Amino acid sequence: MNSTKESLHVVQGVQLARPFQVRRLGHFGINVASVDRAYAFYGRLLGFEISDELDFGPRVPDALKAQVGPTRGLFTRHGTDHHSFVLFPQAAMAASNPHYSKFPRLNLNQITWQVSSLREVVDCFDWFQAQGLPVLRSGRDTPGSNWHLYPVDPAGHINELYYGIEQIGWSGYSKPMLMHGIRYTQPPQIPHRSEFAEVNQGVAQGVSLTQGYRRHEQPEEVFDVGGVLLARPFKISKVGPVRLFVDDVAAVVDFYQRVMGLAVTEQVDVLGHLCWFFRANTEHHALAIYPEALRGALGLQTTHSLLGFGVQLGSYTQLRQAVDFLGQAGIHPVDLPQALSPGMGHHVWVQDPDGNLLQLYWEMEQIGWDGKPRPAARRRVWKNNPSTWPEVIDPQSDSFMGEVFLGPLN
Ligand SMILES: [Fe+2]
Repeated sequence: MNSTKESLHVVQGVQLARPFQVRRLGHFGINVASVDRAYAFYGRLLGFEISDELDFGPRVPDALKAQVGPTRGLFTRHGTDHHSFVLFPQAAMAASNPHYSKFPRLNLNQITWQVSSLREVVDCFDWFQAQGLPVLRSGRDTPGSNWHLYPVDPAGHINELYYGIEQIGWSGYSKPMLMHGIRYTQPPQIPHRSEFAEVNQGVAQGVSLTQGYRRHEQPEEVFDVGGVLLARPFKISKVGPVRLFVDDVAAVVDFYQRVMGLAVTEQVDVLGHLCWFFRANTEHHALAIYPEALRGALGLQTTHSLLGFGVQLGSYTQLRQAVDFLGQAGIHPVDLPQALSPGMGHHVWVQDPDGNLLQLYWEMEQIGWDGKPRPAARRRVWKNNPSTWPEVIDPQSDSFMGEVFLGPLN
């Protein structure tokens, strides 16, 4: 399939090479050995808050139920999207989804991309089907309410394309499961009624707006974050980028570039290995692809295809404070080359309880109309050791550009 005239698609009045346009990395997730242990790190320490729980027990075959341990998965969020990060139980996922047995290095649960319209989800599903490209499932997420399909990259990483994820507002309640009167296991007939109409029907049938999940924990708020008291001295404002090791770089790059339509920002040599950086919007990269051969050069012991992933914090000050806060919890930075993350300013890597590498940062280069990244020689110069970071720095031209966190910090 080439971008020939025949293959062009009209997406809301614009001709594109595919019937959808990815707008941003919406959420991602990992499968972990212990959800409780991972939540202590990602939730209590870093501030992802639970928006819903899901028991995967009913999906585990009876013969395996005794082996898989706890089956509860967590949907968590940093903003108003119902979930921006999910933590699912690894053993239960492996037992209930045969996909994982085909890709034993896979601990990534999903890499999820937002599109702008329900029609794009519907047309995209047909487009994948017509080309024989694998789609694991489609329909609508409950919980989360997003309309979606799950394509798979050639290395087995489960992607999701979605429209319309539920928003959680001031009340902190997620949508009650009883609101989901219809279970969608394939894309809907369109046009579909609005969410407001759906909710009105639920209310008319007696569903209370406060029957959904609301977080139970109310940690002591002792840190001043930009004038607001929070339980930790920083606030996650965005998720991503996601970084993957793959064997067949060409096949995976082709998938994200040609099939998913992500833009290549640049290819960079890291310790003698060519790595690829993709963006979904104006950020330098939301996804990075590294050849498996780089793993040894980095001295990484884990066998997972996930090299690591980032979470953006609200400011440079918050990043510095986060380093101190994590250090007091016994979590200290892991030294990795800055070359892994071109376009990213000050950042630290830490390890989660499963050994995954998490990157905390605040500044990401933004790419404009001409698609060109900042020349490497004009990027911010900084040292890996956070104890050398000054208290105050000068801005770059794009330090405060890009996706803005909406709403209050709590
Ligand atoms: Fe998802």
